[in-house]
Amino acid sequence: MANAQTLSHPYMLQTDDLSREDFKMIFDRATYFIDNPDGKEKFDDLKGITVASAFFENSTRTKLSFDLAAKRLSADTFSFHAKTSSLSKGESLIDTLRTVEAMSVDMYVVRHNCAGSSKFLQENTPGIVVNAGDGKHEHPTQALLDTYTLHRHFGSLEGLKVCIVGDILHSRVARSNVTALKILGAEVAFCAPGTLLPRRLDIWDVKLIETIGEAVEWSDTLICLRLQHERMESGILPSLREYSKYYGVTVKHFEQKPGLVLMHPGPVNYGVELDYKISKYPNVLIQTQVSHGVYIRMALLSLLRNSLNK
Ligand code: CP
Repeated sequence: MANAQTLSHPYMLQTDDLSREDFKMIFDRATYFIDNPDGKEKFDDLKGITVASAFFENSTRTKLSFDLAAKRLSADTFSFHAKTSSLSKGESLIDTLRTVEAMSVDMYVVRHNCAGSSKFLQENTPGIVVNAGDGKHEHPTQALLDTYTLHRHFGSLEGLKVCIVGDILHSRVARSNVTALKILGAEVAFCAPGTLLPRRLDIWDVKLIETIGEAVEWSDTLICLRLQHERMESGILPSLREYSKYYGVTVKHFEQKPGLVLMHPGPVNYGVELDYKISKYPNVLIQTQVSHGVYIRMALLSLLRNSLNK
C-alpha cells in the first residue's frame, strides 16, 4: 500500500522532533508492516533510495534492525565501518560525510559517541539523517520501539505508570523515553542509586522512587537499563553485587506483582540488572522489543522517504 504521509520534520534526530500525530503515523505504519501475510514480505517503499548505515560505536540490535528494515523496503544499502575506515588515517567526520555523500546516498543512519553528532551531520547534508544513538544524548528509535511495545501491550499509554530503573545518568534511552512517554500521556518515575541519577532532576519533571520494591508496587511497567561501564567514572558504584541486591529485578518482584511488565533495551547484564530466571515470565517483553525494532524502523524510514524530492 503506497503511503504519502510525512512527519513533522524530514529527519529523526531526537524524540521531541515527533508530535503525538507523528507517533500515531509511525505506529500505524509499523502495524501495517506487521500485519502483512507473514511479516517478511518485501515492500518497495525505498526502491531507488540508498541508505548508508554509519556506526562509530558498537551495536547489535539497532544496526541489524535498521539494515533489515531498509532491505525489506527494497533500499540499496551499505554500511560504513568506522574502525576500518580512513577515519583511522585522520580523515575528519565532515570529509567522511562528503565522501559518502558523493556516492549518492539519500539517508544516513548514524550512531556516534558524541552528543549532537547527528544534528551536526544533518546541518551539513541535504540527505536525511536518522539518529541511531548519539553519546549520552538520545536514542529516539529505541523510544519509538519501546512505546510501540507498550502501545501494543496496553492499547494506550494514557495514564500508564512507567518507572525507569538503573543507570539513568549515562542513558540516552532514558532521555528519549521520558520525552516519548510524556508525549503519549504516561506517568514517569526514576528509581536508581543517587550516583546514577541526573544532576538536575528538577528539569526532568519525573517522580523519584527510592526502592525497587516501591517501584514495582507503583508501576505498570519497569524499563530497566544497562549499567554503562564505558561511560562511567570509576567509583560511581560500590560493587555490582550491591547494585544487584538493591536495584536488580528478580523472581520475587514478579511474585509481588504478577502482572508487572518488564522491558530492557539490551544488551542485558544478567545477574546484575536482571536475574536470568525472570526470562520465563510472559510479561518480560525484551524479545518483543527487538522484533518491534524492525517494524518501527521500517515505518520510520518509509515515512521519512516521503520527504525526499525523488
Ligand atoms: N538497544 C540498543 O541500542 O542495542 P544495541 O547497542 O545492540 O544496538
